[in-house]
Amino acid sequence: MNDHSPQTDSHQDEAPSACSLNPDKPCSRRTFIKGALAGVGVLWTGMTIYPIIKYLGSSGGSEEAEQISSVSLGAPDTLAPSTAKNFKFGSQPAIIYRDAAGEFHAFSAVCTHLGCTVQYKEDKQKIYCACHGGTYEPATGKNIAGPPPKPLKALAVAVVKNEIVVSRA
Ligand code: FES
Repeated sequence: MNDHSPQTDSHQDEAPSACSLNPDKPCSRRTFIKGALAGVGVLWTGMTIYPIIKYLGSSGGSEEAEQISSVSLGAPDTLAPSTAKNFKFGSQPAIIYRDAAGEFHAFSAVCTHLGCTVQYKEDKQKIYCACHGGTYEPATGKNIAGPPPKPLKALAVAVVKNEIVVSRA
């Protein structure tokens, strides 16, 4: 007796749904392999297309951020000496620090290690990344501890008509 007769296989191929739902109609190897290949094909297609769509979507945001050349942050006295605040430079996080002498220093707030957003830690008087402990000097943006490989990207600061204006350096 031959279990692999064409008649048996073609009968089972006609009912591919029998593989998973009907125990009276066991699944043939051919049907199982077809289903498995179809599943792999769907996964492969998704894995290929998703990054492309994500890249195309994110490039629009970057273009928007690139188009913004300056941001106004209000009057200088809104930021006390030896403090800092985070703000948005277009769609990107940024940080401005006012040193003890009253000078302003602004940077991208994107950590140069893996891209987390950095914050100013007033108790340590450093810019700090909570993700892996990266630490930066707030007046220069220089990386001084932890894994960040390079300084924060600097932004230019000017006070124009009693307004803090941050622009690309
Ligand atoms: S992402 Fe900032 S230290 Fe790792």
